[in-house]
Amino acid sequence: MPVVLENLGKRFGGGAPVLDDVNATIAQGEFVALLGASGCGKSTLLNIMAGLERPTSGALEVPSDGAAFMFQDASLFPWLTARGNIELALQLADKSSTKVSRRARATELLELVHLGGAGDKRPHELSGGMRQRVALARSLAQDRQLLLMDEPFAALDAITRDLLHDELERIWKETGRTIVFVTHNVREAVRLGQRVLLLSSRPGRVVAEWDVTEEHRTDAGRAGELTGVITRRLREEIRRHAK
Ligand SMILES: Nc1ncnc2c1ncn2[C@@H]1O[C@H](COP(=O)(O)OP(=O)(O)OP(=O)(O)O)[C@@H](O)[C@H]1O
Ligand SMILES: [Mg+2]
Repeated sequence: MPVVLENLGKRFGGGAPVLDDVNATIAQGEFVALLGASGCGKSTLLNIMAGLERPTSGALEVPSDGAAFMFQDASLFPWLTARGNIELALQLADKSSTKVSRRARATELLELVHLGGAGDKRPHELSGGMRQRVALARSLAQDRQLLLMDEPFAALDAITRDLLHDELERIWKETGRTIVFVTHNVREAVRLGQRVLLLSSRPGRVVAEWDVTEEHRTDAGRAGELTGVITRRLREEIRRHAK
């Protein structure tokens, strides 16, 4: 099922609208990167798609089983092991599941994010990159077609981030999830997205979009050009907003 946003608007209290007339259709299985300046409403839009906030105008269609969500900070339960965090998500996702089945599924998910050996560690014993992997496995444990990711790798160093990009791409291909990935990093958007949407500021609206083609994936020069084009457009938005 696709995600359809139709003339979506959001204002908080009596303030100016944060989002206004947001229109977008995201196909099932598509990987969309959502870019925009700080404060333009990216998280608000994700929260609306997740059903955590209600739009004040417009309409949206999302899969009936809702969405899995991955936040910017891993927000793992510190008193549970990596495995425990994942098993809890499995239990919440399917209350009729058995302990044995959850254990087996958690093992699979830990392996999927290359944490096979770290299941018994608590969050404080893991590096930031490993914690984000647990968070990724936990969001996959929610077993929803739609995965919403809000700057999940922003706090990581560039090398760890590159590794997780490779992993996320592999997992996306293996699981066929629909992914909406929020970032303010243009390189990251081009690296991961099949399509990049740019949200303007005050109000937030989809003002530009680009397709990332196979050519961009295989030719670093072409990817660099596209990154340049998008960066200039993003800068215009930020400048316009600052006036
Ligand atoms: N619950 C709320 N009540 C009032 N205002 C809010 C609320 N949530 C968000 N806002 C406002 O909406 C605007 C957009 O916020 P949002 O968090 O969606 O931006 P963002 O694009 O995710 O920014 P960042 O890149 O910094 O994460 C901001 O001006 C923010 O202050
Ligand atoms: Mg945000």
